[in-house]
Amino acid sequence: MCGIVAYIGPREAYPIILKGLKRLEYRGYDSAGIALLNGGLKVYKKKGKVADLEETLQGIDLHANIGIGHTRWATHGEPNDRNAHPHTSASGKLAMIHNGIIENYNQLKQELLNKGYKFTSDTDTEVLLNFIEEIQTQNNCPLEEAVRIALKRIVGAYVIVLIEKDHPDTLIAARKGSPLVIGIGKNEHFLASDASPIIEYTKEVVYVNDYEVAIIKPDELILKNLGNERQTPYITKLDMELAAIEKGGYDHFMLKEIFEQPQTVYDCLRGRLDAQAGTITMSGIQKYAEQIMNAKRIVMVACGTSWHAGLVAEYIFEELCRINVEVEYASEFRYRNPVINKGDVIIAISQSGETADTLVAIENAKSKGAIILGVVNVVGSSIARISDAGAYTHAGPEIGVASTKAFTAQLAVLTMIALKIGHDKGVLDHDRYMHLLNELDAIPAKIEKVLNLNDHIKALAEKYSDATSSLYLGRGYNFPVALEGALKLKEISYIHAEGYPAAEMKHGPIALVDDQLPVIFVATRDSYHEKVMSNMQEIKARKGKVIAVINEGDEQSAALADDTIMIPEADEIVAPMLSVIPLQLLAYYIGLHKGLDVDKPRNLAKSVTVE
Ligand code: G6P
Repeated sequence: MCGIVAYIGPREAYPIILKGLKRLEYRGYDSAGIALLNGGLKVYKKKGKVADLEETLQGIDLHANIGIGHTRWATHGEPNDRNAHPHTSASGKLAMIHNGIIENYNQLKQELLNKGYKFTSDTDTEVLLNFIEEIQTQNNCPLEEAVRIALKRIVGAYVIVLIEKDHPDTLIAARKGSPLVIGIGKNEHFLASDASPIIEYTKEVVYVNDYEVAIIKPDELILKNLGNERQTPYITKLDMELAAIEKGGYDHFMLKEIFEQPQTVYDCLRGRLDAQAGTITMSGIQKYAEQIMNAKRIVMVACGTSWHAGLVAEYIFEELCRINVEVEYASEFRYRNPVINKGDVIIAISQSGETADTLVAIENAKSKGAIILGVVNVVGSSIARISDAGAYTHAGPEIGVASTKAFTAQLAVLTMIALKIGHDKGVLDHDRYMHLLNELDAIPAKIEKVLNLNDHIKALAEKYSDATSSLYLGRGYNFPVALEGALKLKEISYIHAEGYPAAEMKHGPIALVDDQLPVIFVATRDSYHEKVMSNMQEIKARKGKVIAVINEGDEQSAALADDTIMIPEADEIVAPMLSVIPLQLLAYYIGLHKGLDVDKPRNLAKSVTVE
């Protein structure tokens, strides 16, 4: 949450920062702000999106070669101009942007209030900034040193970047828990929360580690730990193209990302799955294959959509590998003092690789001897780096706040891992293994067919967009898909939606059913199909409106539904990669029809780096 950008070098800082903030808006869009150094320190900030800030800055002289920028997802203090970043210190000499949460800010604030400091915002950021300034004043030391001393007392997560009025040749940055990437150009440096604001200028980047402070001049990057020891910056080459983070002719990133799925799933399988040869190569987990095979228990840890992928994977791993699987919300798991035995395998699933709860949950589990596998999309992200091993999902940058292509890629990776382990362990029958490899191989082409239903789904979306509530039902592998469908609708259309196991619906949600309630059944042909059809009958008998995602040619189910979405048949293990797609499109078109900002739904953020 919160996006940060900074620049130092020979170019104009403002346009670089502004463009970068627009790329990072998925991280939060409650307010935006910029601070520039040119003779004096100038700070401009405004509630709302980056475009609102841009509009108010029309016609102002913004010339500067050093600056910092921020787009906010509010934590401390409501989203308004006053609480927007950058913040300035009491003396007016320092400006700072911050992503994260300072947990002990109340105590520090009290100490500063006792010393006569006054605060102009409700933020934890302003407290940290003045705390740094106080240390600098007391010790009469360089800003870099004051930052290091201050951070030793900080509890919480942060990326901070500071500029100092009297030192227009230096940016100071530090990180713990939240992401910071530094792009290295020719006599210039670019800082950002992820690589997207950087790639059009340079592909050489340094991922700053926790507890490191960066002292950045146009032609020099120094990294130090909090103990003032120099650290060697490790330069990585970005493997990402600019086109991947642009809309490419689509109206929204969400639609583009839904339509990318035949390619992203293909990219994810490529080089790993060879259906003809009957092999799966997962070099990232090979080293731990034996331990996974012998594991008594696998725990999937994730949040949001990634948690739903974990639920599907639970069914798949238990079926194919005969290993006990538990799926945990990272936020619960990290605080619950869970039983973790040496040799337990934890699979952390995360698109961003930066979700704070997931990150801390695996840090805790690792310290207790568990093996951590990461199923992560963003290369080089914190979760990827802390994991013992893992497999990237290779879905490319996902910018729409509601996750779509990351989900199907996660399913593809998790299915491959399960197939490999089940086969190598000898619990998965060879014919079934070969059948499933072929089924997986056929998924990209089948997704293409589902996407051909776009116009039909758009028409259905318009028909049901006045609903105020809805129910999504499924069983077995399609139960988590129902949860994901409901989540998509909530996020994008603000319509209340509940996902439920179709049978469990009788124990409560059925009371909601009347002739106004759309009930979306995910009812493709699988081992649960007959049972789901009975559940459809139960809804029909109470006059609910049934919209059924079923297989082509399933006339029996179609006869029970008011509307149908017919998708190609697939083995139940891989079917969720198809059945989720109509639900993504349905949510997108309902949100669009209601005139909402589908790429940036209210109150949400893509990368949740606060707990
Ligand atoms: C946020 C996003 C969701 C995402 C969840 C977990 O809530 O809006 O789309 O599923 O975080 O994120 P992760 O990056 O860990 O998959």
